[in-house]
Amino acid sequence: MLHKRQQQLSCAAVSFSWLMRRLDEDMGQPAISANAPVLLKLLDDASMGKFLNERSDRMPDQPYVHTDVMNSDGADLPVNADGLKCALRRMSGGVSVITTGQGEERTGATVTSATALSIEPPCMLVSLNRSSSTWPAVARFGHFCVNILGDAHELLAGQFAGQGGLTGAERYRGAKWTQLISGAPVLQDAAAAIDCELEEAIERHSHVIVLGRVVGICIGNGGSLVYRGGRYFAFAE
Ligand SMILES: Cc1cc2nc3c(=O)[nH]c(=O)nc-3n(C[C@H](O)[C@H](O)[C@H](O)COP(=O)(O)O)c2cc1C
Repeated sequence: MLHKRQQQLSCAAVSFSWLMRRLDEDMGQPAISANAPVLLKLLDDASMGKFLNERSDRMPDQPYVHTDVMNSDGADLPVNADGLKCALRRMSGGVSVITTGQGEERTGATVTSATALSIEPPCMLVSLNRSSSTWPAVARFGHFCVNILGDAHELLAGQFAGQGGLTGAERYRGAKWTQLISGAPVLQDAAAAIDCELEEAIERHSHVIVLGRVVGICIGNGGSLVYRGGRYFAFAE
């Protein structure tokens, strides 16, 4: 029950933020959202469970989302998908776009799971959902590029997450693309782009851990895009 309530509050926080932005756009000035942060903070706290950790609220066998203080034995943490999602919403993640394929056969995904496996040898790691359009394309083309997004790339992040029903090559619209060594599409104004050839893929559960041998690197300008609690944050350099 508590999870459902938290999800509702979380949705309310996101919807409220969206509504404030729409009102500002419609009225052409930020007067409305200027007063929004206090209410938004309350909703955000509520979505993170700050008002829900009364032990008396739950049945003895109910999973419990512990929020403010970490138990040393972790007994109050629910070991299920909702509990893990709740914890991960607290993690700030750098946002990248994984690109792969060529021409009309291009596709890709926005990810927070891309990171380096090792520096020497240079090797990247990304966890891709096996049911996504991106993993089969990476397997087929044997390449991918980790495009680390900059502070102006929120729209692109949405496109590569499939927002608005965009699929495949449609996700590449509105940005400039080039190539380095592997043939994977490279975002021209990425904060940095790391071009990889597929080295190994380890299938586990719903995802596949994709390892890429780094064959090209391109460093851009600007800040970076971070994802936390279901929202993007732009960090200027
Ligand atoms: C911020 C953010 C991070 C994401 N991180 C991952 C990720 O690490 N791995 C993954 O497979 N999908 C991730 N996704 C989901 C993909 O962007 C995308 O929605 C999914 O691959 C769509 O699959 P499709 O290409 O089949 O439409 C993330 C989405 C968002 C918005």
